[in-house]
Amino acid sequence: MKELKGRVAAITGAASGIGRMLAKNLAEQGCHLAVADIDEAGLRETADMVSRSGVRVSAHTVDVSRQYQVYRFAEKAVSTHGGVQLLINNAGVTLSETLEDVTFDDFEWIMGINFWGVVYGCKAFLPHLRKEPEAHIVNLSSVFGIFTVPNNGTYCATKFAVRGFTETLCQELRHTNIRVSCVHPGGIRTNIARNGRFYKAAEPSLTREEVSALFENVLARTSADKAARTIIEGIRKNRPRIMVGPDAHAYDMLKRLFPVTLQRLAAFTPPARWLRSRL
Ligand SMILES: NC(=O)c1ccc[n+]([C@@H]2O[C@H](COP(=O)([O-])OP(=O)(O)OC[C@H]3O[C@@H](n4cnc5c(N)ncnc54)[C@H](O)[C@@H]3O)[C@@H](O)[C@H]2O)c1
Repeated sequence: MKELKGRVAAITGAASGIGRMLAKNLAEQGCHLAVADIDEAGLRETADMVSRSGVRVSAHTVDVSRQYQVYRFAEKAVSTHGGVQLLINNAGVTLSETLEDVTFDDFEWIMGINFWGVVYGCKAFLPHLRKEPEAHIVNLSSVFGIFTVPNNGTYCATKFAVRGFTETLCQELRHTNIRVSCVHPGGIRTNIARNGRFYKAAEPSLTREEVSALFENVLARTSADKAARTIIEGIRKNRPRIMVGPDAHAYDMLKRLFPVTLQRLAAFTPPARWLRSRL
């Protein structure tokens, strides 16, 4: 989708992080917006911020893990704006716990948002996108849809599932008006670690606060604004696969060249004392 000016984008998870910056950057390029999130106050802030660009903005309180709420969002977005051409399924959460100890309630919670939220978004909007001359679906996976790390198994499972779903959708829609992109960000500085459910990190003595600080200060090297701009460039170039950040490119290459070694290295957890010294 080369031209974004005058188009309408529906974005989930737009109250914070990458979703908010996608809204801001798309609005600056003249794209009208239907923004959705479960966090009403954050969503209002995003809507106020982007409406300064002079585009039409509608805000929708939506829990993406509820199928009927996502279908209602699609109907309202289309009736408010007269159509939607770009759908970005961005809402997502994290969960730190081993696969042995995680409860089914927590596993279903993260699957409901990260995987089913994407499926509901695609299926609810597809009939509307089909009616447009040109449309685009963007689903957020992660580098953890490419390789895995301990104590994030549920998150990895959701992001591998998003990748499988999205790559198949891309194949099935190849002869239609709809292009499909799967996004794999590396570490992006957002609230994702603080917003998630936390029980046990790979180094079990680390607290939630320490893990969040390590993520923000050490691992997340790319800003949410830069991530949004990379995703938008990928949409403009109709890229089926969008890697975000230098770390994402590096992990992707390592996984292809040394799949077993990368899995072994990623299972290694540095000692707690060394990790704390990085804070
Ligand atoms: N930050 C990173 O390093 C990183 C890396 C790889 C992938 N991602 C993915 O990028 C996407 C955006 O994450 P972010 O980093 O901006 O995180 P964030 O926490 O800043 O934003 C996520 C947004 O999703 C919303 N959300 C959570 N549950 C919801 C629900 N049930 N219904 C609707 N909205 C809900 C939150 O309220 C929040 O506004 C996620 O899918 C995440 O998995 C992030």
